[in-house]
Amino acid sequence: MSQIKIFDTTLRDGEQSPGVNLNKQEKLEIAKQLERWGVDRMEAGFPASSQGDFEAVKAIAQTIKNTSVTGLARTNKADIDTAWEALKYAEEPRIHLFLATSPIHMTYKLKQTPEQVMANAVSMVRYAKEKFPQVEWSAEDASRSDRQFLAQIIENVIDAGATVINLPDTVGYTTPDEYGDMFRFIRETVPNIDQVELSCHCHNDLGLAVANSIAAVENGVTQVEGTINGIGERAGNASLEEVAVALRVRADHYPYQTGLKLDETKRTSDLIAKLTGMYVQANKAIVGRNAFQHEAGIHQDGVLKNKETYEIMTPEMVGVKANTLFLGKHSGRHAFKDRVSELGIDLSDDKLKEAFEMFKALTDHKKEVTDDDLYTILMEIQTDTSAVNKYQLEMFQVQYGTSNIPTATISLTAPDGRSLETACTGQGSVEALYRTLDALIEEELHLADYQLNSVGRGKDALAESHVQLTVDGETMNGRGTAQDVLEASVNAFLNAVNRYIVQKNTVKEEQVVK
Ligand code: KIV
Ligand code: ZN
Repeated sequence: MSQIKIFDTTLRDGEQSPGVNLNKQEKLEIAKQLERWGVDRMEAGFPASSQGDFEAVKAIAQTIKNTSVTGLARTNKADIDTAWEALKYAEEPRIHLFLATSPIHMTYKLKQTPEQVMANAVSMVRYAKEKFPQVEWSAEDASRSDRQFLAQIIENVIDAGATVINLPDTVGYTTPDEYGDMFRFIRETVPNIDQVELSCHCHNDLGLAVANSIAAVENGVTQVEGTINGIGERAGNASLEEVAVALRVRADHYPYQTGLKLDETKRTSDLIAKLTGMYVQANKAIVGRNAFQHEAGIHQDGVLKNKETYEIMTPEMVGVKANTLFLGKHSGRHAFKDRVSELGIDLSDDKLKEAFEMFKALTDHKKEVTDDDLYTILMEIQTDTSAVNKYQLEMFQVQYGTSNIPTATISLTAPDGRSLETACTGQGSVEALYRTLDALIEEELHLADYQLNSVGRGKDALAESHVQLTVDGETMNGRGTAQDVLEASVNAFLNAVNRYIVQKNTVKEEQVVK
């Protein structure tokens, strides 16, 4: 079995998904879960793209020990220097440099000749190698590049010190045969290719990203790049859980293995979905809600007689568990603490106390608190670590009936301590609540998206709401959980506004420190 390295770019290419914006604490939580999942490399962000990304990459580089942390950079000295400042703390600092090589990108986007692109790539790989022991170089839009030019530039950047060569299918255009053949050609043509690792990076515009990645592996690639749940630009990236599980389940056909702990897959997927608000479709392979459900009578009958009639893998293999009963009304602090640490979540004593109080409040309304419920509460507490004053909900009330106009009344405490209260009407309860919040909050607000889901099943399931707001022109996501759908909706709205306030204050603090 040859070993395939997994390069996760959920925090960089995944975070480029429309509408996704994660704060530093959330990125750190994702990074810790990726480390637990066992990815070999993680792309923590694009340090030169913003102060927020820089800080997140730095925090991840300082925290993660068992996975090599990398950051994206354009081929210019300023990007490389900034990336070094963020990544120098990592156990094995790694940089990912990219430059487009296709005629269309060189002509229209870069406005450079192939000779200029070649010279730039070589000199910047050499410059990066003075600082970073590991330098990955990507030929952006490789699958639409001229192969002879590609072979020449690869040979030159290897001579300049590159350690990994990545050939992305940036626009998700290639087919498995074509993509595999490109790697075969490069391996046969580039004389120094044995000095580096070859990597693939596929986008999913034609739904071929996983198939293309596997075709690349069959043609000598030893690193696969992708994201959890396949999130990313446009139609997303190759879904890493699909690649890894396909290699495991079809080990009879594919002589390759990854180092992933597959039973951490579902938890990794759930975390990304919760924090990004990008929930996976029910029929998504491996991690979708229906991936292991059998609906048709003939299938159910077959599975009862022998699981393998309709199951090619077990749910346990990827960490899908029956939603186990966790703790109830009479569970004490110790049992609670033990379960939190079994879920792999670190909380300070104060946060643990807060979580226990939330859990107790929940058991007043919900008889069976499951791992899913607990995980949802804990994620909310764990990723909210800012001490900045925010809007606080004091109370809300809604009058709704089929024959009257829905009216909401809300009281808030403003960040400066003032008490605020007003009432507004709307077409429905949620609209009345959101119009009332809009009237109370001084920032300029526009609601762009609203989602409501249930955590688990059953009539007492927790409600989880996600909203996307523009706050003073900035796109912010918010999420809220509660037993009641209206309370979850209010919490999500306030969460988005409060994230904006925290972000604004953090930027101010960073400017003062500078
Ligand atoms: O898709 C792509 O080409 C990329 C590069 C930055 C590697 O994401
Ligand atoms: Zn990409």
